[in-house]
Amino acid sequence: MPLERTFSIIKPDATRRNLTGEINAVIENNGFAIVGQRRIHMSRAQAEGFYRDHKDQDFFQALVDYMVSEPVVVQVLEGEDAIKRYRALMGPTDATKAGPDTLRGRFALSMRENSVHGSDSPANAQREIGYFFSEVEILPCTPEKP
Ligand code: PPS
Repeated sequence: MPLERTFSIIKPDATRRNLTGEINAVIENNGFAIVGQRRIHMSRAQAEGFYRDHKDQDFFQALVDYMVSEPVVVQVLEGEDAIKRYRALMGPTDATKAGPDTLRGRFALSMRENSVHGSDSPANAQREIGYFFSEVEILPCTPEKP
C-alpha cells in the first residue's frame, strides 16, 4: 500500500500539559513518521480560515477562541492509510465515547479540549497540509539501506 500523508494538530490542552512528547511517541509507535512539525501560536484569521467548513456551527466561535488561546503543534504524518488510521488512533470528537487506547480516550479533557485534530479526507489532508506547510518543510524518512 502506498504511503499517504495526513495533517495533525496537538491542541492547546495537550501542549499546556507538556504532552507533545507523549503524544508523538504514541504516533510513532503506531507506524506513522512525523515528516513535518512546527510549534505555532495561531492567529484568529488563521484559525477561522482553517475551520471555515464549520463556520455555521454553534461551536465555531468557541472552537476558534480555544485554538488561538495557546500554542499548538502542527504536524504532517506519513504512513500507510494514514488518514483513516490516524482518525482511528485519535478516537471520536466526544472523548467520553473514545476507547482507552485512543489519543482522545487517554488525554482529552472535554469536547472542546480534545487534545488532537486529524484530517478527515484526502482532499482535506491536502488542503490542511498546504495551509501550514510548504513542500520544502516536509522531509520524508530516508529508507534504510539493505
Ligand atoms: S461536525 O459537526 O461533525 O462537523 O463536527 P466535528 O467533526 O465533531 O467537530 C468539528 C471540530 O469542532 C470541534 N468541536 C468543538 N469545539 C468546541 N466546542 C464544542 N462544543 C465542539 N464540538 C466540536 C471538534 O473538536 C472538531 O475540531 P477538530 O480540530 O477538527 O478536531
